[in-house]
Amino acid sequence: MTTRKGIILAGGTGSRLWPITRGVSKQLLPVYDKPMIYYPLSALMLAGIREIAIITTPEDQAQFQRLIGDGGQWGLAFTWIIQPKPEGLAQAYLLAEDFLSGSASAMVLGDNIFFGHGLPELMAAADAQQQGGTVFGYRVSDPERYGVVAFDTQGQVQSIVEKPARPASNYAVTGLYFLDGTAPQRARAVTPSARGELEIVSVLESYLGEGALTVERMGRGYAWLDTGTHGSLLDAGNFVRTLQDRQGTQVGCPEEIAYAAGWIDAERLRAHAETYGKSRYGRYLSDLLRERAE
Ligand code: G1P
Repeated sequence: MTTRKGIILAGGTGSRLWPITRGVSKQLLPVYDKPMIYYPLSALMLAGIREIAIITTPEDQAQFQRLIGDGGQWGLAFTWIIQPKPEGLAQAYLLAEDFLSGSASAMVLGDNIFFGHGLPELMAAADAQQQGGTVFGYRVSDPERYGVVAFDTQGQVQSIVEKPARPASNYAVTGLYFLDGTAPQRARAVTPSARGELEIVSVLESYLGEGALTVERMGRGYAWLDTGTHGSLLDAGNFVRTLQDRQGTQVGCPEEIAYAAGWIDAERLRAHAETYGKSRYGRYLSDLLRERAE
């Protein structure tokens, strides 16, 4: 059982997806059949994390709460934090400092989707490291859109650069950060970048400078999808649909993860199944109950 606390950063203006995100928060948009936030939440749950702070804009908080409440329905505990103004990803550690109260954390960006059979083990290894930080490098065709890792000839991490015009590698840093309890203190020392943001990369550099950063490669057996453009949002939805239709499973189903982990019992799962009634989601939850009983 981990003592690490989770953070989901679901703030921001979503301006790259305007006009759709003019009326609704990006992280509430559907990715095929579920609200986007279900996917990063599921990732934290697969890491065994139950105490989670959710950071939203002042305007959107109520809608998120209407959707997922206090987390008790899944055996989780949510703390709701307002981001008054989006000032960069590192700001999350300042906003969550009281919530963390010195604990190590795993922060996931609310628009990042992770999928892969070995994900729980990969995250468990990162969680086991109490000191320093672990992030994940993932090969992409368009690294200039992300934080990019430069490796030296021995494969050691040399630097991480945010959205470089000329990327030193194809390895992007995914939006999943396992950092120790010093992250808020490091975030406090960060000054705004040229684009006026407190960059997460600056926090990572602080770890890197002390030899305290591990960049774990997430190999080709994993899917890391982001939803930063209209096209990638659609691609993510199609990916989820393809897998689910083929396998008859659900990607990003908090009820399933909570039940498998023993955080909710069969009674609670049955209640969820009833809530969702005859929707495919509801039928899936009923099937889970039956499969366990068989
Ligand atoms: C942010 C980070 C970047 C990271 C990316 C992952 O970029 O700044 O380092 O690679 O998330 O999704 P943004 O999505 O804010 O442009």
